[in-house]
Amino acid sequence: MTTPFTPLTLKNGTTLKNRFMKAATSETLGDKYYRPTNKLIDLYRAWAKGGTGLIITGNVMVDSSARGEFGNVVVEDTVNLDRLRRWAEAATNNGAQIFLQLNHPGKQSPKTISKTPVSPSAVPITGDNALGFNPPRALNHIEIKEIIQKFINAAVVAEKAGFSGVEIHAAHGYLLNQFLSPHDNQRVDEYGGSLENRMRIIVEIYQGIREKVGKDFSIALKINSSDFSKDGFSEADSLKVIQKMDQLGIDLIEISGGNYENPTMQGIGKGAFFINYAAKVKELVETPIAVTGGFNTAEGIDNAIENNETDLVGLARPLVMVPDLPNQMEAGHFTRANVHYLTTGSKSFDKKVSSLIGLSYYQQQMERIATGKNIINTNNAWGALGFSLRKQGLTALLPQRG
Ligand SMILES: Cc1cc2nc3c(=O)[nH]c(=O)nc-3n(C[C@H](O)[C@H](O)[C@H](O)COP(=O)(O)O)c2cc1C
Repeated sequence: MTTPFTPLTLKNGTTLKNRFMKAATSETLGDKYYRPTNKLIDLYRAWAKGGTGLIITGNVMVDSSARGEFGNVVVEDTVNLDRLRRWAEAATNNGAQIFLQLNHPGKQSPKTISKTPVSPSAVPITGDNALGFNPPRALNHIEIKEIIQKFINAAVVAEKAGFSGVEIHAAHGYLLNQFLSPHDNQRVDEYGGSLENRMRIIVEIYQGIREKVGKDFSIALKINSSDFSKDGFSEADSLKVIQKMDQLGIDLIEISGGNYENPTMQGIGKGAFFINYAAKVKELVETPIAVTGGFNTAEGIDNAIENNETDLVGLARPLVMVPDLPNQMEAGHFTRANVHYLTTGSKSFDKKVSSLIGLSYYQQQMERIATGKNIINTNNAWGALGFSLRKQGLTALLPQRG
């Protein structure tokens, strides 16, 4: 019987020691030159020590002029190779693999960072979070080619630095998701219109990376099962993109969903949100899949793997709350991770700072893990808000993500 402790071999022959995957968690622990700090490196050492087989980093930007938030790491060239090497080394110290998650925010780059963010088309963010973002302008054809090249460059640097692979982030409303979405992408050139055109940028990034890296270097894709919004990227389209990437030989597909306007991926207490969709994917493709979102009990993790509902269990918030969750589970000590619903006590204020509350609490805990401090278990959002205000000043209160 397959258990969460059964190794898994990816398409390129890489073997993961178990079925636990630390999903990407933007740590905001880059310094002012967008380099990984010692805190970030120590955090990843703790996760590797905790027994996780595959560790995905928080999103790393491929272009310093297009950042998603305060504290991002950027990988554009080999200038910071030594620090990147130390990061990869720390995360692989216990037989774990580490994939660098590559991202470009597109229009989800906040006002405090981007005067005029870019997107496939000039379609602004709407809804409660619109206030935090300037309207985007449409990318021209040359700029699209340059962005593709930036993803490829970052992957080549990641390989040089000793990362085991990269994950292309095409979920959660960021640039590549914007290309996939008929709402965000109204282009009439070869990067817009039909699904084949809307996915072209992802295919070109994937093929470009594949040409430049060794066979052992893994390439994964994080994709939404759906955007869950009118005119957005649909489930039927998502299945077709996954089939295409499977045919092209991608090593791993991570399934998530939603965006920060419609944050399906940040639910609490609803079980594994995308497990039904995963069954449809498994019928269609051979590529191993990871399902992320909503796992927080030993029973849920065991069942999903034993029943072959997913190949890997992606865990973000639970691995922040319990960094050695796999070790604890192997020793029979883990039953449930507390994934808190954070509140300031005022529903209307919660709504105003909703994009910050859920993230800042976990960012505060990640910094505590990095410095050897205990996790703070609470539903009270004020401590985490204070943490973000101290780090970023008042701009922390503006919506950070679309
Ligand atoms: C603090 C925080 C930061 C996150 N940063 C990223 C990120 O950089 N890239 C990404 O793909 N997802 C990111 N996510 C989403 C998670 O990877 C995951 O999809 C989501 O939290 C649901 O999984 P969970 O229920 O195990 O937490 C982040 C989530 C949190 C809580």
